[in-house]
Amino acid sequence: MSAPATRTIVPGTNATPATLAAPLAAPLVRVRGLTVEFKVTSLGRATETVHALSGVDLDIQTGEVYGVVGESGSGKTTLARCLLRLLTPTRGRIDFDGTDLSTIKGRTLREWRRQAQVVFQDPVGSLDPRSSVRDIVAEPLGLHLGLKGSEAEKRVIELLDEVGMGRHHLTRRAHELSGGQCQRVAIARALALRPRLLVLDEPTSSLDVSVQAQILNLLGDLRRQHGLTYVLISHDLSVVQYLADRIGVMYLGQLVEQGSAQEIFDANLHPYTRALLSSAPDVDGGTRDRLLVHGDPPSATNPPTGCSFHPRCWLTTQLGSPEECRTTPPPHIDAARDHQSACHFANELTRSNKPEGLPQ
Ligand SMILES: Nc1ncnc2c1ncn2[C@@H]1O[C@H](COP(=O)(O)OP(=O)(O)OP(=O)(O)O)[C@@H](O)[C@H]1O
Ligand SMILES: [Mg+2]
Repeated sequence: MSAPATRTIVPGTNATPATLAAPLAAPLVRVRGLTVEFKVTSLGRATETVHALSGVDLDIQTGEVYGVVGESGSGKTTLARCLLRLLTPTRGRIDFDGTDLSTIKGRTLREWRRQAQVVFQDPVGSLDPRSSVRDIVAEPLGLHLGLKGSEAEKRVIELLDEVGMGRHHLTRRAHELSGGQCQRVAIARALALRPRLLVLDEPTSSLDVSVQAQILNLLGDLRRQHGLTYVLISHDLSVVQYLADRIGVMYLGQLVEQGSAQEIFDANLHPYTRALLSSAPDVDGGTRDRLLVHGDPPSATNPPTGCSFHPRCWLTTQLGSPEECRTTPPPHIDAARDHQSACHFANELTRSNKPEGLPQ
């Protein structure tokens, strides 16, 4: 998150200046001021700028699962594409293991690509339906490592085994597989080059609930076995809750809150995060007070002034629509160690996730 100014609050007893100052290990991925603007022209209209990402700052530590949540259009996939160097940002910088990604090219870039792999939402659509499982998983082995024939086949069988598929799947075509099996094959292919970072963009959202759980379990096992680092993108909070160590909440191209999964679920300090959580289905089937975010997100071509969430913010309404929400971009407040919220009135939010006393 990029902050015009940072003030430190220590609400409750959760953080002390000493814990705020404790150093973290050097991150595997360091993102600073990441900004992506798309120029779009529709027939008969002037060129407009889509503000897909605006000044995103985040660190991803080696071995952690960094969850990214937010509504459709909030910039999650754009962030993923930048992390994979599939998209060049308009401004800002991404360092991977201390190297500025924008400076690598040619052979070094090809080598680097082995380290960061992706699994997309639509496993069926992302695999060539007529290709065999063997060819799909062997492709990166041939391209990047020069493995062929029996050597490649041996490694393909190992990879299939890791994702819970037997060698009898080798000759099956992608169109003959179920959605869950396709996703296992896509994961096997992504693991083929032993990456350090796996970007998972809505990896389970096209799958049935029971299959979703199997794939999430598999991802959890693989992460432990291989010490992988994940960026897990999902609009489904329960998916992120299942695996993530830390969570970034995106709204209209900005990271409005980030912190440990526990802080985000139990002690969040942004009205958007709180509303997102309270609108999620209750896993216990119980009833719960809901904080609703009204209306659709504003257009990314014309984001609101001040805090981009203010036109839909229940807290702003409750506080009588203070001028600073409408006019001034909120600073990124350090709420606890490694927990920031971009809200002028984060202090007004109690460190409880229950919306008691707040508008229903
Ligand atoms: N190639 C592009 N050209 C123009 N605008 C784009 C392009 N790609 C994304 N956008 C816009 O950038 C914004 C962020 O899009 P993005 O796909 O990153 O969102 P998302 O959070 O992944 O959404 P979803 O949950 O629907 O996948 C949106 O307003 C989107 O319309
Ligand atoms: Mg997306």
